[in-house]
Amino acid sequence: MDFRTQVIAPGATSRFGADALLLVIAGQAVPAGLDEPLADAVREAVAQGDLTLKPGKVAYLRQVQGVKAPRVIVAVSADTTARALKVAAAAGLGVVKGLGARHLGVMLAGYGELQDAHAEAVASAASEAVYVYRTTKPSAPAAPKLDKLTLLASAKTDAAALGAGLARAAAVAEGVTLARELANRPGNHCTPTLLAAEARKMARAQGLKVEVMERKQLEKLGMGAFLAVSQGSDEPPRFIVMQYQGAGKSDAPVVLVGKGITFDSGGISLKPGAEMDEMKFDMGGAASVIGTMRAVAQLKPRVNVVGVVAACENLPSGRAIKPGDVVTSLSGQTIEILNTDAEGRLILCDALAYVERFKPAVVVDVATLTGACVIALGAVRSGMFTTDDDLAGELSAAGEAALDPCWRMPLDDEYDEGLKSNFADMANVAGRQGGAITAAMFLKRFTGKLRWAHLDIAGTAWKSGAAKGATGRPVGLLTHFVLSRAAR
Ligand code: BES
Ligand code: MN
Ligand code: ZN
Repeated sequence: MDFRTQVIAPGATSRFGADALLLVIAGQAVPAGLDEPLADAVREAVAQGDLTLKPGKVAYLRQVQGVKAPRVIVAVSADTTARALKVAAAAGLGVVKGLGARHLGVMLAGYGELQDAHAEAVASAASEAVYVYRTTKPSAPAAPKLDKLTLLASAKTDAAALGAGLARAAAVAEGVTLARELANRPGNHCTPTLLAAEARKMARAQGLKVEVMERKQLEKLGMGAFLAVSQGSDEPPRFIVMQYQGAGKSDAPVVLVGKGITFDSGGISLKPGAEMDEMKFDMGGAASVIGTMRAVAQLKPRVNVVGVVAACENLPSGRAIKPGDVVTSLSGQTIEILNTDAEGRLILCDALAYVERFKPAVVVDVATLTGACVIALGAVRSGMFTTDDDLAGELSAAGEAALDPCWRMPLDDEYDEGLKSNFADMANVAGRQGGAITAAMFLKRFTGKLRWAHLDIAGTAWKSGAAKGATGRPVGLLTHFVLSRAAR
């Protein structure tokens, strides 16, 4: 989608030519300074009971007297924050996308001086609204025609800041859309091989370096834990490394590591049947790393970034790992696999050991790692784990700025207790209690001296129910994080 801003004289919004105008009103009253024809129309709609000035409410007005745009959509937001704006804009866009409008003007009333975060909120709401998954459903309704959005701003606002917000949103939107598309594809389409091919395609198009390692190389390296998970499947594993260079060659990179289980049946510790289809989304971490690399490549910040994805399937078979099996990880530490369904940590531990060679400034892994994290935080915030307070602060701030929030969870040494094993250096599961934390404690054993954080996105990477589908999170958080690292 093409995003622009246009400075508009006071009272001229009504004369703006577009297929539709989305008017977002902050607060519970018709804001002063709104164009008379628009203010009149809103007052009339309220008087007629077509609109209530309450957060989340939307009204569709046709052929408003004195307004050039043939359709006006009014949406009400709770306050002037970017967060409330995105909610209101999304509600308004729910109507807009059914109208066949190509060019949408957006006017924010009652917001005072607009900031880059406002521009970003509107643009990301728009791009999220128009995405339609069609790859395996050609009969799906055509994607909305909306392909241009102009944010109307008064002369007082910092147009450059709004432009920067829109540019950021445009890049994040491309990354989010790519991540959603990859994660939505079913397991028989989105195999490790396809994931690697898509990563390669993206990297080539964006001028990134990319390397894909296959089983033989992984065996040579000694990735015994990753290979153990993949051995139950006929689909070969793939280990993907994407590199963006925005700073000097010797500058320590930000390293992102994604869990790429293209289908998680649980393996011999088979999952129950209900909702098992959703385990095609178990490569959401990988999808978000690939999407973030795409966004970063477009924004070209002065920082080096390495994106790593470990991709395989977790299936039961005559060759699959069994409870009690002991494997040797790339780090040399041995692991007793007590539950084959705790496979994400097994592939990530080898990826974390592998990325040490990049001498990273910081490593963030992203994984749909535990059902326990869904219980703890639901679908609103991703779980964030690190012992590094500064890094925790940076990730929290990035999440808030991107409207893709996370919440810090604890990592006290006592949580490590349950991972003890009589037959290996550690077991791959502890008890049921604190499952998201013990999973993170397992990963921590493979991070050595790295500055490291782990994001558990099991609750945020996709939606269940009628709106089942990938969200593209946390591409926004990660992109903001990378940008903030470049600005230092
Ligand atoms: N991919 C799942 C985690 C998951 C489950 C994400 C449900 C979203 C919804 C992961 O591989 C897994 O199976 N984890 C187990 C760990 C357990 C065996 C210690 C879990 O959470 O049940
Ligand atoms: Mn599992
Ligand atoms: Zn899994």
